[in-house]
Amino acid sequence: MKTFFSQGRRMTVVAAALAVAGLTGAGAALAQTPLVIKFSHVVANDTPKGKASEFFAKRAGELTGGKVKVEVYANSTLYKDKEEMEALQIGAVQMLAPSLAKFGPLGAREFEVFDLPFIFANADDLHKVTTGAVGKQLFAKLETRGITGLAYWDNGFKSFSANKPLKTPDDFKGLKMRIQSSKVLESQMRAVGALPQVMAFSEVYQALQTGVVDGTENPHSNLYTQKMHEVQKHMTVSDHGYLGYAVITNKKFWDGLPADLRGQLEKAMAEATVYANKIALEENEGSLAKVKASGKTQVYVPTPAERLALKKAMVKVHTEMESRIGKDVIDAVYKATGFDPTKL
Ligand code: LMR
Repeated sequence: MKTFFSQGRRMTVVAAALAVAGLTGAGAALAQTPLVIKFSHVVANDTPKGKASEFFAKRAGELTGGKVKVEVYANSTLYKDKEEMEALQIGAVQMLAPSLAKFGPLGAREFEVFDLPFIFANADDLHKVTTGAVGKQLFAKLETRGITGLAYWDNGFKSFSANKPLKTPDDFKGLKMRIQSSKVLESQMRAVGALPQVMAFSEVYQALQTGVVDGTENPHSNLYTQKMHEVQKHMTVSDHGYLGYAVITNKKFWDGLPADLRGQLEKAMAEATVYANKIALEENEGSLAKVKASGKTQVYVPTPAERLALKKAMVKVHTEMESRIGKDVIDAVYKATGFDPTKL
């Protein structure tokens, strides 16, 4: 079966067997009773995404009267970042919630608009995009790739971390910074003279601990639950960019579901989305408080002038990335939020 990844394929024995037998993963999953939906993700259970996926699993079981069993595999226990996308396409899993920064390798570069530094002033602006026309248009682009987008789930705004204080753009010079697989994030790091390094989420803690990279960027819940604060001496609450998720499923699988079950699962997803977006902020605030209480990481909140200097240094990424993301997509986001890059 053709997938979008030509290299580094690591099919599981089960997936390989399915492919050989000519079964789609959708067909195989549908033949089971109860119908099992494998939902794989890379973060800890105790995060906005971890909790929301468990919530969805519970409500899916209840609303379908036990006809559907959602099995959640957290913390990269089943697949890492890149592998999970392939697993979805071949039907070895039925649901994922990758961060919006991870759709580039699928060819859906437009999603990287969410990574543009400083494009969202706050969660309200972000929701104007995810719950509006732009969010829908982006999901439509996935359909041609055999993927159905079900919902946008929040995590939150990111902080930078390293073993030195990061207050001015100059402080980033020469630092090796781990990023997700997004060209926009690559460009964002280069804008301040850092050296971006793409790495699977599951490998970040060790890379920070051993000095393979010097620093990274995360919402607080990810930093704390992966214990990165134990190996990062400084953190700057820069809120410079957003990290959230698209819950996605294999289109063939989804379209092949009996209509009543699909409707019940849609309802479970709608409820899980309300829940996810309600808890995200408090989860991140809770994690920040725990990082501070640990005393292991010095938490710094930049002054308005320092944050503005960072913004000025990074906002040029918006024009640099026009040809990759599409100027129309960027303009549509500006229009929805009112952001004007010429007025900082
Ligand atoms: C990351 O790789 O840093 C994040 O995308 C992890 C996640 O799923 O929140």
